[in-house]
Amino acid sequence: MCGIVALIGSREVAPLILEGLRKLEYRGYDSAGLATIKSLDQEKKGVLTCEKAEGKLVNLASLLEKTSVEGHLGIGHTRWATHGKPEKQNAHPHRDQSGDVAVVQNGIIENHNLLRNELKSDGVNFLSETDTEVIPHLISKQLKKLKEEGCLDSGETLLKAVQLVLSRLEGAYALAVIWSNAPDALVVAKRQAPLIIGLGQGEFLCASDTPALSGFTNAILPMEDEEIALLTPLGIELYDSAGCRQQRNPLILSENENAVDKKNFRHFMLKEIHEQPETVELWLARHFPQHLSDQFPISLPFEESFYQSINQIQILACGTSRHASMVGAYLLEQFAGIPTTVFYASEFRYAAPPLSPHTLTIGVTQSGETADTLAALAMEADRRKNFGDPSFISRQLAITNRPDSSISRQVENVLDIGAGIEVGVAATKTFLAQLLSFYGLAIAFAARRNSRTLDEISSLIEELQNVPDQLRILLNNHNQITESLAHNFSDTKDVIFIGRGINYPIALEGALKLKEISYIHAEGYPAGEMKHGPIALIDHRVPVISIATPGKVFEKVLSNAQEAKARDAQLIGIAPEGPDTAIFDSLLPIPNVTEWISPLLTVIPMQLFSYHIAAHRGLDVDQPRNLAKSVTVE
Ligand code: M6R
Repeated sequence: MCGIVALIGSREVAPLILEGLRKLEYRGYDSAGLATIKSLDQEKKGVLTCEKAEGKLVNLASLLEKTSVEGHLGIGHTRWATHGKPEKQNAHPHRDQSGDVAVVQNGIIENHNLLRNELKSDGVNFLSETDTEVIPHLISKQLKKLKEEGCLDSGETLLKAVQLVLSRLEGAYALAVIWSNAPDALVVAKRQAPLIIGLGQGEFLCASDTPALSGFTNAILPMEDEEIALLTPLGIELYDSAGCRQQRNPLILSENENAVDKKNFRHFMLKEIHEQPETVELWLARHFPQHLSDQFPISLPFEESFYQSINQIQILACGTSRHASMVGAYLLEQFAGIPTTVFYASEFRYAAPPLSPHTLTIGVTQSGETADTLAALAMEADRRKNFGDPSFISRQLAITNRPDSSISRQVENVLDIGAGIEVGVAATKTFLAQLLSFYGLAIAFAARRNSRTLDEISSLIEELQNVPDQLRILLNNHNQITESLAHNFSDTKDVIFIGRGINYPIALEGALKLKEISYIHAEGYPAGEMKHGPIALIDHRVPVISIATPGKVFEKVLSNAQEAKARDAQLIGIAPEGPDTAIFDSLLPIPNVTEWISPLLTVIPMQLFSYHIAAHRGLDVDQPRNLAKSVTVE
């Protein structure tokens, strides 16, 4: 949450910082701001200028057209509000009282109240309600002390002051600091929030995520927790928390890793929905041979004996990633025969179940940065390490779309879902790619544990090979059907999604998509549970969207839909065409596939339906209110 960009170089930085922020706007768009320092040849001290605007980045951009923000050194921020309303006074950068020190921050300073009170008693007057504002005031105080001790105005002095201040901060942060008395120095630091240094030609650009570096450099140095760096036009000095100098080689990002283009689509979300056939094709080509031989599909970083030895799998995730994990759990249990539990990462970290032996823990996160998922995995790794029973087999696996993210540095085994950058805040193609990873895992475990015959495995793989073409047909047909359906329901207040078995998580995902981009209240429910309470909500104003695919629970879901119809609900079906499904007032038809494969198809009309409702309501589909793509706070 929140995106930061900082740049030191030999050209005007404001337009470059603005461009970087544009690529990070998915991290928050409550307000934006920018500060630069312009060096004056005749004096050592530079001039610090700061501009901020409430709302989206476009407001800051138009403000900058009317003002002059110059300099070869600068910091910028796009905010997702935690402490203090999304108003201009709470926008970053925050400055000290003299206006000489400016700071941007992503994270939460947990002891900010204590520090604020201390600073207030020193006479500091606060201008914002943010936790961040304590930082420039503390740095200013340290700079004053260091100067009294004889330190000169320099980057080294700024570095020292920031180091001293960091030792007082509790919580997570990624921050960038500039000081007008050191116009050639940028100090950046990180703890539990991402920060990447991009190495350009005589320039350094630091950012919360790699897309901001696109077009600038592909040589990056991801900072580690507790590191701090002093960047000057001459180079980088990187230190750990003990003040020891660190040396590391940069990593090289592949070219297409940063490609962000809306093509001819009206929104990124619609483009990403339409990219799904290709997502599946690429994934199949990468992980599945055309024909099964003695070479099992999907190679995972585990030794053969591990597949046999584990007794259970636990999956930690949030939001859409959790819904994909629920489908995954169904496959791992019902197809591969391994007991599997899915936890909200935010709950697991404070209430984990008692330890049991021989466990694979999987963290699922598209961004690889979700604070709760990272913390839950770290907590689990620690308690298993400290348990002290060497006979316990405990391994972790990360499933992510961002192999260059924090989770990949934390967890030794990583499965890259390879969906490419997803810009829309609502996850679509990455959800499908997460599902595919679970099909791969379930097949890999079933094959190696002999829980399924080769025939059963082959026919599931064959079905998977058909999915890209089926998706193409669905997208062609459904775009229009869902669009006209969406017109009828765009004023609806409540929608209920029902499904059972492997499609229950798809009902949850359908409800989440609708809520987050169209702001319509929606509930996802296991169809058989409706009669235990939620059926009381139903009347003629409430559409019920039922996912009914042939298999174990087909007739059951149809009966549950009938129960809703008997209470005047308007019934929308996501089901194959046929006499059984004539009960639906509107049908979003899907091909007649096995239950196993159905979630890969049933999710498409859900995504399109939500998209068209939000677009019809004129809402900001790609940047829904109050949300951010990367949730880096607890
Ligand atoms: O990056 P992650 O997969 O860990 O993110 C988890 C959730 O924040 C995310 O899935 C969220 O629910 C999406 N906005 C859903 O569309």
